[in-house]
Amino acid sequence: PTITYHQPGGDTQVIELEKPDRIMQAALKNSVPGIVGECGGQAMCATCHVYVREEYLDALPEIGDDEEEMLEVTASERDERRSRLGCQIEVGGSGLEAIEVDVPEEQV
Ligand code: FES
Repeated sequence: PTITYHQPGGDTQVIELEKPDRIMQAALKNSVPGIVGECGGQAMCATCHVYVREEYLDALPEIGDDEEEMLEVTASERDERRSRLGCQIEVGGSGLEAIEVDVPEEQV
């Protein structure tokens, strides 16, 4: 499984996962900048906000109630189609083998 993080300044990090992981957790483990994950992945802080690239949107799980609430209070503006919480999306375990996301300008 692979997660590609595109930074606002144009840098890109491509992370190869050894086993399934979530977008927020994988970013922290691999020191990808711009993703904070303050609440530890409980959909309670919105500091793991990412913009999922169009071609991966159809493969995403539904937005849960907690996630929906947090997406209303993101530091960078919500994109109605592409905004998700990185801690709520697993890559490698559930049919989604690769994803690319844009990291927002601000998380707090
Ligand atoms: Fe807090 Fe995702 S890490 S909402």
